[in-house]
Amino acid sequence: MVPKPQPDFAREARARAAEMSEIRRKVHRYPELGFEETETAKLVAAHLAKLGFEVSGAVARTGVVGLLRGGLPGPTIALRADMDALPILEQTGLEFASERPGLMHACGHDAHVAITLGAAHLLAGYRQELRGSVKFLFQPSEETPPGGAAAMIEEGVLDNPPVDAILGLHVNPHLPVGFIGVKDGVTMAAADNFRVVVRGRGGHGAAPHQAADAVVAAAAVIQGLQTISSRLVDPVVPVVVTVGTIHGGYKANVIADQVEMHGTVRTILPDLRQQMPETMQKILDGVAAAYGCKIDFDYLRGYPPVENEPAMVSLLVEAGKLITGPGRVLKIAHPSMGGEDFAYFLQRVPGVYFYLGAGKQEGPVYPWHHPQFDINEEALPVGAAVLAQAAWTYLQGSPGRSEE
Ligand code: NI
Repeated sequence: MVPKPQPDFAREARARAAEMSEIRRKVHRYPELGFEETETAKLVAAHLAKLGFEVSGAVARTGVVGLLRGGLPGPTIALRADMDALPILEQTGLEFASERPGLMHACGHDAHVAITLGAAHLLAGYRQELRGSVKFLFQPSEETPPGGAAAMIEEGVLDNPPVDAILGLHVNPHLPVGFIGVKDGVTMAAADNFRVVVRGRGGHGAAPHQAADAVVAAAAVIQGLQTISSRLVDPVVPVVVTVGTIHGGYKANVIADQVEMHGTVRTILPDLRQQMPETMQKILDGVAAAYGCKIDFDYLRGYPPVENEPAMVSLLVEAGKLITGPGRVLKIAHPSMGGEDFAYFLQRVPGVYFYLGAGKQEGPVYPWHHPQFDINEEALPVGAAVLAQAAWTYLQGSPGRSEE
C-alpha cells in the first residue's frame, strides 16, 4: 500500500489565519460568563454544522459537541476548548474590545474557541483518510467552580463513541509565539476554596476589653494561615493559601462583631490536599480560643490537579516539533499553582494539557485576568495546526507505523 502523504497542517493553518482571527475577534467583542455562553455556542455550532459534523447543543447548558467521524474505523480523540469570559472591565483599547461593559475575554478563551474551530476545519479536510473520530468539546464555565467540564462528563460527552484520549491547551502571553510549553505528570494544582467567618462581640472602639474584636482575630487568622506554607509543610512541597477577600466592620470607632473572608488553597500532593482542612481548622480553633471569638469555617473542594499522561505528552511533543520546528517545544520543569477543570477529563481519559505561546512581539506583557490582557494572534494558526497534527498522529499512528 502506498503511504498517503502527511498533511501540511502548518501551511494549511496559515492559510486560515485571517478566518481564525475573525472568529476570535467576534467572540472577544461579545464576551459571555460561564453557563451563559449562548451566542458563542451558536457561532460554534454553526461552524461545526457547516463542516458536516454531528453537532449536539445545550450540553451542560451552553456547551457544544461536534463529532467528526473519519472514513476508517479507529479510536476517538477529543479536543477541548473553554468558552467563558470574566467579569472584568476591559481596558485594552482594541478595535474589537468588549462591547459588554464589565465583561471581558481576559483569559484567552476567545482564542481557544477560534483555534479549536481552526483545527476542526483542518481535520475535516482529511475526513476520508481519518482512522477513527475526533470529538470537539466546547465547554462552558471553566473559570468558576464547579465548572463545565464535570457537567459535560456527567452528560456523557466521553461516551458514544467512547473517547480514548484528549487534548487541551491554554494560550500563554509569557511564552513567545511559535513556542509550546508542556510538562509530564502534574502540570497544574488542585484548587480548593474556603470561607471563614469570625464572630466576635461588638462594642465601643475605646473600650476593647468589653468586646471581642473580630478584626484583630481575623488578622491573626490571616497570619496564622500563612504559617502553613512557611512552618508546617516541607519547604520543597508546594502549597499556597491566599485570603482573597475580607469584609467586616462599620465605623472607625466601632469594634466589629463579624469579619468574613474568602480564599483559595492550592496543592499538588494528594495527601497534603487531604490534610489542609484539618490543618486550617487547628489554626482557627487556636485563634478563636485566644481571642474569645467563634469561627465558622467551610472548605470547598474545587478542581483536582491537572495530570498529563506521559505517552500523550510524547505525542504532543512530536506534533509540536513538526509544526513549530526544532527547539520550540519546551519541557516545563515546575507545575503552575493555577487550577483548571480540564483535570476532570484527565481523570477519565489519558491526555495532555499544554501552553501555546501567544506573547506579543513588543510592549508590556499583561498576565491572564488583567484588564489589558491580549494575545498575539499569530498563535492561532500555530495552535490549530498543533491540535490537528496531534489528533492526526494519534489516529493514524506515527508516520512509520506498518500497515496491517
Ligand atoms: Ni483560562
